[in-house]
Amino acid sequence: MKKIVVLTGAGISAESGIRTFRGSDGLWEEHRIEDIATFEAWQRNPGLVLDFYNQRRKQLFEVKPNAAHLALVELEKNFDVHIITQNVDDLHERAGSGQVLHLHGELKKVRSTVDDNLIHTLDGWELKLGDLCARGSQLRPHIVWFGEAVPMIEPAAALASEADIFIVIGTSLNVYPAAGLIHFAKPGIPVYLIDPQAEMPARISNLSVLREAAGTGVPRLVKQLMH
Ligand code: OAD
Repeated sequence: MKKIVVLTGAGISAESGIRTFRGSDGLWEEHRIEDIATFEAWQRNPGLVLDFYNQRRKQLFEVKPNAAHLALVELEKNFDVHIITQNVDDLHERAGSGQVLHLHGELKKVRSTVDDNLIHTLDGWELKLGDLCARGSQLRPHIVWFGEAVPMIEPAAALASEADIFIVIGTSLNVYPAAGLIHFAKPGIPVYLIDPQAEMPARISNLSVLREAAGTGVPRLVKQLMH
């Protein structure tokens, strides 16, 4: 079975009602990254950081996977599909995708501040100051903040290097190391980019760009690949 590796970003969840980060309506237009998404921000004002992620988590219970998430599940009938997502939502899993690797963490999970391996799934949406791990330390969102290591990048790069087809959906390719994954793909394999504002990444030889929303572009590409 041919292996398809799919790299997704915030754009695939936009039509489910989850805001992207950059662009005029992006979350980083309203919040400063250094106030919310760094370890220093957490040390300075954990309440503010918790509130930001609590609001995002709360919204997750109100949204559903869209046609793009669902189309990727369909692909599994004919291909060995691996999704590498920068998203912290769980919409790929809820759509039914079987192999999903989260590069930047998961909103529904929280972890210890003294032991990175102590990870729990939160009941409900709210993580509060005073919620402690088994070792008695404050729990934090299970999110990779700016400046932190990306522990899943190695398995992600290994997957990328094994791809027979590579698909990139709804990411500005602004954040590294995620944005560099495309360069681990074997030279010459078909690469598809689906994003209404796609910019052409350099040095990709067999690239097809679909400048359209994921909700229509992904089902169209899936149909094409299935035939
Ligand atoms: P961005 O907000 O940087 O980019 C979103 C991309 O989605 C843009 O290229 C949009 O053109 C595109 N887009 C918007 N609507 C779309 C639609 N309906 N269909 C398809 N594409 C659409 O989000 P990411 O690239 O995911 O990290 O951001 C990468 C990382 O930066 C995130 O994981 C997050 C953020 O800071 C952390 O918080 C650690």
